[in-house]
Amino acid sequence: MKYKVPQLEPYFDEDELNNLKKVIETRWITEGPFSEEFLEDIKKFTKARYAVLASNGTLALYLSLAALGIREGDEVILPDFTFSASASPVIFRGAVPKFVDVLDDDLNIDTGKIEQAITPKTKAIMPVHIYGRSCDMGKIMEIAARRGIKVLEDAAQGFGVYCRGNHVGAIGDLGIISFFADKTITTGEGAVVLTNNEELYSRLKLLRNQGRPHSGTFVHPGLGMNFRMTDLQCAVGVAQIRKFKKIEKVKLEHYELYRRLLRDVKNVSFLKGNDFSNFVPFRVNIWAEKLAELIPFLEGKGIQTRRLFYPLHRQPYLAHLGYKEDEFPVSNKAYDEGLSLPVFYSLKDEQIKYICGSIREFYEKNKNG
Ligand SMILES: Cc1ncc(COP(=O)(O)O)c(C=O)c1O
Repeated sequence: MKYKVPQLEPYFDEDELNNLKKVIETRWITEGPFSEEFLEDIKKFTKARYAVLASNGTLALYLSLAALGIREGDEVILPDFTFSASASPVIFRGAVPKFVDVLDDDLNIDTGKIEQAITPKTKAIMPVHIYGRSCDMGKIMEIAARRGIKVLEDAAQGFGVYCRGNHVGAIGDLGIISFFADKTITTGEGAVVLTNNEELYSRLKLLRNQGRPHSGTFVHPGLGMNFRMTDLQCAVGVAQIRKFKKIEKVKLEHYELYRRLLRDVKNVSFLKGNDFSNFVPFRVNIWAEKLAELIPFLEGKGIQTRRLFYPLHRQPYLAHLGYKEDEFPVSNKAYDEGLSLPVFYSLKDEQIKYICGSIREFYEKNKNG
């Protein structure tokens, strides 16, 4: 179906095209000058001491877990409400994901419930910075330090997000950011792993590039695989990172317009947020009454909406973990009542007015019952 208003689309112009042309002209399409530049730009932006690129966020998490030495039988604590890719790399390491419910205000992990989930097998906490706001990293780092546990931040969605002034992904022992096509800045597929720890950095470098410190040698001091990106992707990344401020500004304006236009619609409300994080509207999410009927109504109007994540404890592939339905009330509510409205750089105010008008029309029509 061709939508009148899609859920999202990336923002590209001639900057990306010009950089891609340069790569093609040099005939050097694997990691090269643009990869180095992109990595330096990311380090400067996030203030992480070290960083390595990875093929995507899922593999960046796998790489990070491997660098931390997470293996069979270990437990990793993460929120029940997140994308499947937060949990699947844990399973692929042979480890066990332990789920914790999230907070109603920002849908980030409920730090008050983390300690109950810690056992002698717990090796890491994986906070996931969801939908453009940070978790409470102060509390998480304090618990981790006290209990001798590592912290791996899943900041896949968190480019430009700060917790009390520190960029997410650069606070824990390790952190990853994804550059998938729906992210605030994108390279199609791609990711980065951040760390301030030199030893972890050395391990990451070997693991990501066939167990050797750099390409061009057939001597492999360690065991590794290929988690690299290409210069084609990084050429796009270099152009994208320079657009971040512009993208952030426009998406915040969209968010404010949504808030203004929906202020008096009593059937919907916005996430409250928290007081230690900025907000980069990776998504604009609302709590909406009668969601099951609202979605097809909006689809019928050519508006592409998305439900929020399906809770991990309900995922068919994780049924063997044996969680009970009522252990995660907020995570369940997020799936049952949460909706992502379109937000992307080239979205027009007129389109937002059309979306909000359609939402208003739906509730007018369904006033009684
Ligand atoms: C919270 C979260 N973690 C991990 C990932 C995986 O990243 P990628 O799609 O780059 O593999 C995503 C991707 O969308 C995500 O939203």
